[in-house]
Amino acid sequence: MHRLLVFAFLLAVAYSHPTTVDFNQSKNFTKIARTLVHKSSWAAFGTISSEADLTGYPMVNVISIADDEQGKILFMLMDLDYTGKDWRKNNNVTLLFSDDQNRNCKEPMNHECPRVHISGHVEKMAKDNNDTYKKALDIFLTRHPEMTIVVDSNGMGDHGFYLCKLNINKIVVQPYRNGNVSVDSYYGPLH
Ligand SMILES: *[C@@H]1O[C@H](CO)[C@@H](O)[C@H](O)[C@H]1NC(C)=O
Ligand SMILES: *[C@@H]1O[C@H](CO)[C@@H](O)[C@H](O)[C@H]1NC(C)=O
Ligand SMILES: *[C@@H]1O[C@H](CO)[C@@H](O)[C@H](O)[C@H]1NC(C)=O
Ligand SMILES: *[C@@H]1O[C@H](CO)[C@@H](O)[C@H](O)[C@H]1NC(C)=O
Ligand SMILES: *[C@@H]1O[C@H](CO)[C@@H](O)[C@H](O)[C@H]1NC(C)=O
Repeated sequence: MHRLLVFAFLLAVAYSHPTTVDFNQSKNFTKIARTLVHKSSWAAFGTISSEADLTGYPMVNVISIADDEQGKILFMLMDLDYTGKDWRKNNNVTLLFSDDQNRNCKEPMNHECPRVHISGHVEKMAKDNNDTYKKALDIFLTRHPEMTIVVDSNGMGDHGFYLCKLNINKIVVQPYRNGNVSVDSYYGPLH
């Protein structure tokens, strides 16, 4: 009886992750990229540093993200932080997603552990209060309810957080740098 319960529990856990990325079964890099972004609640966010003592260095940060129903990547930045300052000086950024974030990998560097690199430009979303903006903010806060604290009635709270989206230029799925994904094919509903 006890064993049966454990088995049922494991089964329930397995089926509660319908979007698990299986590299062996799916060599569809578009699907891997889209699924991994959707599953991730944050990205390692790389910028070219604008700090005086780090000139020319890459800088990385942990940035909470959410994807909309088409895969558009939404996030909030503030200019008190590295990332907020950096993109305004050099708006070439790269985000890294690893399935190890979802605790699906035994070894993050193993070729069975998918990694996706997405490069592009940050676009600050105009606070027009139109439907596009409201919907994007709602999607982001649904995924990150604790971030509601930085949003006050006047906008983005004391720290000056602002909502952004990523305009994607290039998507590569690792391992072996062999998974070029066209930006057009990436955008779309999750299958
Ligand atoms: C995936 O395929 C590799 C060889 O291509 C194999 O070594 C590995 O055991 C497979 N992993 C799974 C989970 O099936
Ligand atoms: C690959 O995945 C994408 C996104 O899920 C899908 O649109 C496309 O049809 C798939 N391609 C193949 C060959 O299955
Ligand atoms: C951003 O990347 C593009 C394409 O590689 C490059 O042409 C441009 O010089 C880069 N911008 C900066 C500010 O380095
Ligand atoms: C609404 O705001 C978004 C985000 O700033 C902008 O891209 C879009 O053009 C605006 N749409 C309209 C109809 O004003
Ligand atoms: C991916 O694109 C790069 C250039 O952007 C190219 O050098 C490489 O051969 C491509 N890889 C594949 C598998 O198409």
